Amino acid sequence: MSKLNTALITGSSEGIGRSFAEIYAKNGHDLVLVARNKIKLEEFAQELKAKYPVEVEVFAADLIPVDAAQKLFEAIALKEIKIDILVNNAGMMQVEKLSESDPQKLNNLLQLNIQSLVNMTQQFINPMINRGQGKIVNVGSIASFMPTPNFAAYGASKAFVLSFSEGIAEELRGTGVSVTCVCPGMTETKMLSHAEGMEKFIPKFLKADPMELAAQAYKASMKGDVVFLDKVANKLLVQWATHYPRWLVRGVNGLFARFK
Ligand SMILES: NC(=O)c1ccc[n+]([C@@H]2O[C@H](COP(=O)([O-])OP(=O)(O)OC[C@H]3O[C@@H](n4cnc5c(N)ncnc54)[C@H](OP(=O)(O)O)[C@@H]3O)[C@@H](O)[C@H]2O)c1
Repeated sequence: MSKLNTALITGSSEGIGRSFAEIYAKNGHDLVLVARNKIKLEEFAQELKAKYPVEVEVFAADLIPVDAAQKLFEAIALKEIKIDILVNNAGMMQVEKLSESDPQKLNNLLQLNIQSLVNMTQQFINPMINRGQGKIVNVGSIASFMPTPNFAAYGASKAFVLSFSEGIAEELRGTGVSVTCVCPGMTETKMLSHAEGMEKFIPKFLKADPMELAAQAYKASMKGDVVFLDKVANKLLVQWATHYPRWLVRGVNGLFARFK
C-alpha cells in the first residue's frame, strides 16, 4: 500500500479542524484546507509550511450551497491533487428552541452538517475506491447518541452523521477505504464559547483540548476504528444514553435543558 499522502480537512481555519490540520501535518501529510475565510486559511497554511515539510493548498468555499461539494471536487481535480483522506469536520450549532429558531439558519445547519457531508463523501470516495485505499473521517458528537432538547436539530444532524458513517463503513468493507466517525464531547473551541452560555455550566474536566482530541482521533482513523469517543466521561455518558430506556434518557436531557 502506498502512503496516504494528502488530507482534505473542512472547517480547518478554526477549532477542531485547525487542530486536525496541525496533527496531519505533524504526521507528514500534505493538506488541502477548506473553510470560508480565505485570509485565515492562507495565514494558517504559511504557518504550517514553516513548521512542517508538507505542501498546503487552500480552497476558500462555503459548503452550504447544494453544489458546493461538486465545485470543490472539480477545483481540486483541476489542480491534479489526489485526496487520500477526507475529514468532514465543518459544522455549525444553534442553541435555540425550534419554535424560536430562524428558519434560514436552521436550513443552513442541516445543509452543512448533513447534506454537505454526504455530498463531500460521495464526491471524493470513488477515486479512493479506484486506488484501493483511503480514509473518511466524519465528525459527529456525543450528541449523535441522544436527543438534545434546545438544540434538537443539531443533535439529530449528528445522529445522522453517526448512522451514515456506520452504514458506509460496512458498504466500503474490503475496498481499502475506511470510515471513522469521531464523536467529541465538549471541546474548547469557538463553537462552545458561542453556545448561548452553555460553556459556563460545563466543569473544566469535561472539556477537551482540540489538539488532544485531534491527535487521538488521527490514531483511531489510522487503525480503522469506525466509532471514536475521547475521554472516559464521554464514554460513560454514551454508555448511559445507549443502555438505559429512551424515555429515561430523553427525560433527563429534558430536565437539564429546562434547568439551564
Ligand atoms: N466544540 C465542541 O464542543 C464540539 C463537540 C462535538 C462536536 N463538534 C463538532 O466538531 C466540528 C468542528 O467544531 P468546532 O467546535 O471546531 O467549530 P468552530 O470552532 O466553530 O469551527 C468551525 C469551522 O468550520 C468552518 N465553517 C463554518 N461554516 C462553514 C461553511 N458554511 N462552509 C465551510 N466551512 C465552514 C469555520 O470556518 P469559516 O467560518 O471560515 O468558514 C471553522 O473553520 C463540528 O462538526 C462540530 O459540530 C464540536
